[in-house]
Amino acid sequence: MHEPLPEIDTTTPHSARVWNYWLGGKDNYPADREVGDQVRQVYPGIVDVARHTRAFLGRAVRLLAGEKGITQFLDIGTGLPTVDNTHEVAQRADPACRIVYVDNDPLVLSHARALLTSTPQGACSYIHADVHDPGDILRQAAETLDLTRPVGLMMLGILGNVWDHDEAMAVRDELVAALPPGSYLALEDGTNAVDPEAAAEAEKTRAEAGDPYRLRTPEQIAAFFHGLELLEPGVVSVSHWRPEAEPHGLPAEVTAYCGVARKP
Ligand SMILES: C[S@@+](CC[C@H](N)C(=O)[O-])C[C@H]1O[C@@H](n2cnc3c(N)ncnc32)[C@H](O)[C@@H]1O
Repeated sequence: MHEPLPEIDTTTPHSARVWNYWLGGKDNYPADREVGDQVRQVYPGIVDVARHTRAFLGRAVRLLAGEKGITQFLDIGTGLPTVDNTHEVAQRADPACRIVYVDNDPLVLSHARALLTSTPQGACSYIHADVHDPGDILRQAAETLDLTRPVGLMMLGILGNVWDHDEAMAVRDELVAALPPGSYLALEDGTNAVDPEAAAEAEKTRAEAGDPYRLRTPEQIAAFFHGLELLEPGVVSVSHWRPEAEPHGLPAEVTAYCGVARKP
């Protein structure tokens, strides 16, 4: 039996639904579209960030499940199910992969229960939890994942929800510390470095709408990989992390940075 669903408040924007709007999805409400449009006006690159982030997710999970032998994933800040979610990419490489998704939006929870279905050989579960409480996430994740074996920790577009940088680092530290050597961290987040004025406007717009999201410097994003072995090409714009071959050269840089690193 599932826990009853928490109530869905559609009158205030929530980042999962705003993100879904930028991705061209249908699981969003007028309040989400309003703030989504406001942010896009002051920070037009956000739609490219959302799309390139999903493409990075696919490339990173394919690498970890396909080449690095990772069969367990903890994906924090899942977002609303779309195409090529973590479990689909991972289980295509190895059907025995086990995935735990974590989000705090009740709409994500209801869609996840309906849509995030595992292969019979693997497992896929969904935790309704807050990234501010990594201990709770780890306790619940341990019901599906064996935390003594390597895990792919996915933190894409999630740490900006933790406004204070020291607290965001402490969350990351507690999660990484709980995973054994041979685990990987794949992380992506928006940066304020490319156009600081637009970034400040975007932060202000989201904060005023009740859905604050902190943009960080590339150095702060790189610092989330401390103590880990960064894979090539290091911490770069998300559109430049091992891009697929394209006939017209590299895609333009977008205003979000990412990396993948191994815990030694
Ligand atoms: C920008 S979206 C990223 C979605 C996905 N990781 C991707 O890269 O496409 C951020 C996600 O984090 C979730 N989120 C926001 N605040 C959260 C919190 N405090 N705890 C857990 N999840 C949160 C949102 O509901 C949303 O689904």
